Amino acid sequence: RGVFTIKDLNFEAGQELTVAGKVNSSCSHFSINIGHDFNSLALHFNPRFKHQKDKKVIVINSTQGGSWGSEQKESNFPFQHDGEFKVVFSFNNDQFYIRLPDGTMVGFPNRFGDDRFDHLHVDGDVKIHSIKIL
Ligand code: GAL
Repeated sequence: RGVFTIKDLNFEAGQELTVAGKVNSSCSHFSINIGHDFNSLALHFNPRFKHQKDKKVIVINSTQGGSWGSEQKESNFPFQHDGEFKVVFSFNNDQFYIRLPDGTMVGFPNRFGDDRFDHLHVDGDVKIHSIKIL
């Protein structure tokens, strides 16, 4: 499941995780997910070109034990079909900080309060070029 999964991510508070890739031309939505496993995601970062009732909106949420938390929606949508992107994630035990491809920042609460995550998966019609932690 997912186009790309890492189970030994070793992503710690204070570090920067950069995901670079390209959105395929037919992509309706994709997600970059960070947490402990598929069912325990502290950060579900979900750009939607056209999905459900959303058009060009970034939905951000968390999920645990099969239920989603409350969604945060961003109307700034710096993603394009056939376009390259780079998204940079960092966090502390209180907040996630997400740098979008246009350089703007988005925050999202770290609802788990954890300071380390080992699971990452990317889902959807995108190609991943690189994932790095610095
Ligand atoms: C749901 C969707 C999930 C996830 C969630 C985020 O509607 O089916 O894939 O994106 O929203 O709140």
